[in-house]
Amino acid sequence: MIGALFSLARPALHSLDAETAHQLTIRSLALMPAAPASKDDARLAIDVFGRHFPNPVGLAAGFDKQCEVPDQLLSLGFGFVELGGVVPKPQQGNPRPRVFRLTRDEAVINRFGLNSEGVEAARERLARRFGRPGVVGVNIGANKDSNDRISDYVTCIRALSGLVDFLTINVSSPNTPGLRDLQGEAFLDDLLARCIDARNQTDEGRRKTTILLKIAPDISLETLDAIVATALRRGVDGLTVSNTTVARPETLREKALAAETGGLSGKPLFVPSTRILAETFLRVERKIPLVGVGGVDSAEAAWAKIRAGASLVQLYSAMVYKGPGLIGDIKRGLVQKLDQEKTSLAQAVGRDASAIALGRF
Ligand code: FNR
Repeated sequence: MIGALFSLARPALHSLDAETAHQLTIRSLALMPAAPASKDDARLAIDVFGRHFPNPVGLAAGFDKQCEVPDQLLSLGFGFVELGGVVPKPQQGNPRPRVFRLTRDEAVINRFGLNSEGVEAARERLARRFGRPGVVGVNIGANKDSNDRISDYVTCIRALSGLVDFLTINVSSPNTPGLRDLQGEAFLDDLLARCIDARNQTDEGRRKTTILLKIAPDISLETLDAIVATALRRGVDGLTVSNTTVARPETLREKALAAETGGLSGKPLFVPSTRILAETFLRVERKIPLVGVGGVDSAEAAWAKIRAGASLVQLYSAMVYKGPGLIGDIKRGLVQKLDQEKTSLAQAVGRDASAIALGRF
């Protein structure tokens, strides 16, 4: 039903500039009743981070930046949603236009620069829905003009811990100058130590909010070694792999738009992000779970992320091209895969990581 509505609305939406179309989508969702999603096939359920997910297909950060429509998004059939990126103080982000559809590549370039109404606005909205069912998390970042970036993450953790199921430390957005430098070992060690401390203090005496670290695809394997070692040492609960890429593959067809500054997502990100996911899985050795994101646009793509090492997957860009009907398509396709291969999601996680790391999907 919702898929058919999208097919009707897509030409109109795509005739608008990408940000206006997106604002319209959020406003339409806000008008929808947040009905419970229809029940998922039991084979899609998976327990990760000590939490129960009705299915492994989540919405990636950046879609609902201001935390306005989490329950409507869950009712579309997502197994979990990541809201944000949120930063402590309200900030405008970069001037418009700052998001571009590369239609022939089924890709998006964005340079929003973490436009956010600030953590207080997010906190109020999330407090209003507190106690509702569904796994919800928030992606957190630092203000552009901050002179103590680590404190910014700590501020967000103190404000949001306990209100949501998980918080994702975003050190991988390419659109805030210097943010990705936080992936360097010394910074990261300090950042994670202080974030985990803040979470432990805020959640003392109650169930702890899950803390994830989201990384860029554009890192060397040496940097990945250091990130994984630091994340494990500091007790991060999981890694999200990956954010958008600053690379521009030669294969892109929308040459003029490809020259826009920003992070590239969607189909062209699938191979590089899935290879880095597999490399991460090989280093983590099942000590913590991984969330696989980047170019998921079909059941095949989601299945590859799982075989590469993801316990959960997320998507954003493919929603722009295929609409919300895609969520059901992926879930049905995954059940078929499980049937055909007589396996379970948990058993399939990381099964082909070694081959995929070498580019053999
Ligand atoms: C994003 N993404 C993102 N990631 C993040 O950690 N914090 C953020 O605020 C945003 N904002 C954002 C805005 C827009 C317009 C896009 C397209 C993406 C990245 C996103 O969560 C995801 O990692 C990538 O888009 C890759 O997934 P897809 O889009 O290829 O499925």
